[in-house]
Amino acid sequence: MDRDRALPSLNRRQLLALLAGGLGFGASVVAAKAFTPAASGLAQRAPLASAAPLVAQAASPSPTKLRWLATADSGSGDRKQQAVADQMAAVQRRQPVDLVIMAGDNIYNDGDISKVDGAFTRPYSALLQAGVPFHAVLGNHDIRTANGDPQVAYRPFGMAGRWYNLRRGPVEFFMLDTNMNANWGQQLPWLRTSLAASKAPWKVVVGHHPIYSAGFYGNDSVAQGRLGPLFKKYGVQLYINGHEHDYERTKMIEGTTYLTIGIGGASLRPILANGNTAASASVHGFVELEASPTSLKINAWDRQGKPIDQATLAIKS
Ligand SMILES: [Fe+2]
Repeated sequence: MDRDRALPSLNRRQLLALLAGGLGFGASVVAAKAFTPAASGLAQRAPLASAAPLVAQAASPSPTKLRWLATADSGSGDRKQQAVADQMAAVQRRQPVDLVIMAGDNIYNDGDISKVDGAFTRPYSALLQAGVPFHAVLGNHDIRTANGDPQVAYRPFGMAGRWYNLRRGPVEFFMLDTNMNANWGQQLPWLRTSLAASKAPWKVVVGHHPIYSAGFYGNDSVAQGRLGPLFKKYGVQLYINGHEHDYERTKMIEGTTYLTIGIGGASLRPILANGNTAASASVHGFVELEASPTSLKINAWDRQGKPIDQATLAIKS
């Protein structure tokens, strides 16, 4: 269990422990609004996994559309990660994606790059064979070995550094190092300058640690103070994080939606939805996202290929 962040209160911890015991740890859905496929228009969709043996190629980059998958807390190398990875590949077969974002804890338990085959290459082999590029950030487990430097240097993780930006189609990604030892003295001015210079319709920031969460660790007031004003000033519409081993989508907070996706393979934790919660679940899965210049669709799927959540963000013209 991660201990790099202090728990916000004993009451939260006690309540979550109660939920874990009472509802079945790792299997329950505690959502502010339960997902109803019929209301979402997803009722007609078959589960994602299929026996189709063909490997669809990665989508061609387009200036007006970007499709991508995102996962986090994935690198367990076990059957749970493989089940999620199989569903990610099923999405790719159904409709090719341009890239995959990994929001940290890419290799458990200590970020040891010698375990990359089991935690990355094998589970995502179908996506890798299809030529889909991955782009990662470092989680707290990843910096336990040589401060994560071997992962930064590992080309298939697609990292231009400990922090970097990436413009693809209508989206610009700002990939952060949110670890306790991150160099904010350099990273924060870089983020401010990069956000100010961005012409992308969609500005998406990715970091391992949550800023707003109703999970085990809860809200991070330091991160809110450090990043919130930049997000507001420069119009960051989406922040994607892991670390909390649950799925959460917040209501929009000063223009930003906070998406927690630490459900890629590591053991799950329960959630206690709060006033910021728009949707939440404690199940393994991932998210599929599709951006046009004016809309950003979020589809969260579980490891059986069933929908967890669906939302569309829009840019007002
Ligand atoms: Fe973590």
